Amino acid sequence: MNITLKINGIEHAIDTAPSTTLLGALRGLGFHGVKFGDEGGLSGADTVLLNGKPVNAGSLLAAQAEGHNIATIEALGEHPEQGWKKTDGLHPLQKAFVESGAIQCGYCTPAQILAAKSLLEKNPNPSEAEVREAISGVLCRCTGYLKPVQAVLKAAAEMRGDEPIDISSINWDFGTPQPDAPQGDAAASSSTRVLVRPKVVLTPESQTWQTVGKPEIKVDAIKLVQGKPAFTGDFEKRGLLHAKVLHSPHAHANIKKIDATKAKALEGVVAVLTWQDIPRVVYSTAGQSDPIPGPLDTFSLDNKVRFVGDRVAFVAAETEEIATKALSLIEVEYEILSFILDSRESMKPESVRIHEEPEYVNFADFKSRKESRRRDPH
Ligand code: FES
Repeated sequence: MNITLKINGIEHAIDTAPSTTLLGALRGLGFHGVKFGDEGGLSGADTVLLNGKPVNAGSLLAAQAEGHNIATIEALGEHPEQGWKKTDGLHPLQKAFVESGAIQCGYCTPAQILAAKSLLEKNPNPSEAEVREAISGVLCRCTGYLKPVQAVLKAAAEMRGDEPIDISSINWDFGTPQPDAPQGDAAASSSTRVLVRPKVVLTPESQTWQTVGKPEIKVDAIKLVQGKPAFTGDFEKRGLLHAKVLHSPHAHANIKKIDATKAKALEGVVAVLTWQDIPRVVYSTAGQSDPIPGPLDTFSLDNKVRFVGDRVAFVAAETEEIATKALSLIEVEYEILSFILDSRESMKPESVRIHEEPEYVNFADFKSRKESRRRDPH
C-alpha cells in the first residue's frame, strides 16, 4: 500500500505492507534514532512524538500515522561542528544530556529526550516529580534516572532563560541534607542534586592536571544524543535474511514428528532447519572454552525439548513477517514427558533416570574432525 508520512516536517511517500509498524517504516527510511526495545512497547525505546505526544512507534501501524506530524530525535539538533556546514547545534535537552553525563549506552536517550521535549512544551517549569513521570515510559537500564532527570531540569532552566544550573560547581556531600533545602517538589529536586554527586576529594596537585579529577564528556555522547547509528540493530546490510526460531511450548517432550513442508513452500522462505537437517553436536552452555567444566547437555536442535522455549526449528526468510508466518506452518507432534520442577525432588534416587540418548558428536570429536579437515580438506 502507498502511504505518505510527515516526518520532521518533510513528507515521505512509501510503498509498504499494511502490517508495517511505524517503527519499521521510520527505520526503513533511515531514522535510526527510534529504537526497537521489545514487541510490546514496554521499554519505550521506540518513542516518537505524534502531534507532539509521545507514542510507541512499534505499537502503531505506519498507516495509522498518515496525516499526523511525526517527530523523531533527528528533528532536534545537529552536531555543532559540521565542517563547512553551519548548524544551530544541539537542542538544549541534547546539550544538557551530554553535559550532565546522562548518557551511558545511549539506547534510551533519544526516547527520553523526546518524552522530555513533549513535557517542556506543555510545562516549561516542571518539578522533579513531573520530569520523572514524563520519562517513566522509557526504561533506562544504565543510568538509574538521576542524571537524565537532572539534565531535563537543567535544560528547562536554560530554555526559560533562568540562571543555568552548574552542577559541577556544587560540592555536594553524598546524601547529606542541605540546611536550606526547600520543601515539597522543590525538595525532591534538591535531593536529586544531592544524591547525584558524591563528595570527591582531590589531591592539591590535581588542580594543575588537565583531565584527571575533572568531569569529561563521554566520547560518543554527541553521536548518541542525536540518535545516530551506533548499535548492532542499526547495522543494515542489503539482502540480509531474517531468522526466527520455533520454541517449545512444553517443558519436556520428545519430538515424535516434525513436518516443515508447508513452511518451506512459502514464498520468501529461504531455509527451514529441524533436528533432522543438522549434525547432533553436543555442547555446554556453562563453559567458556575447552576443556569445558560444564555439562555437555545442549544441542542446537534435537529430537527432544528440555524446557519451555527450547529450540525446535530455525527459519530464514526474506522478511520478518514471512519468517513468522513460516513458523506457524511447521507441524510438530510432541510426546509429552514427565518433568520435575523441585530441585529436592530431582535429587531423589527414583528421579534419576538413565536416558538412552541417540548418538551425538561431542565437542572434542568435533574439534578433531575440524582439525583433520583443515589438514586434509579432501
Ligand atoms: S538504557 Fe543505557 S543509557 Fe539508558
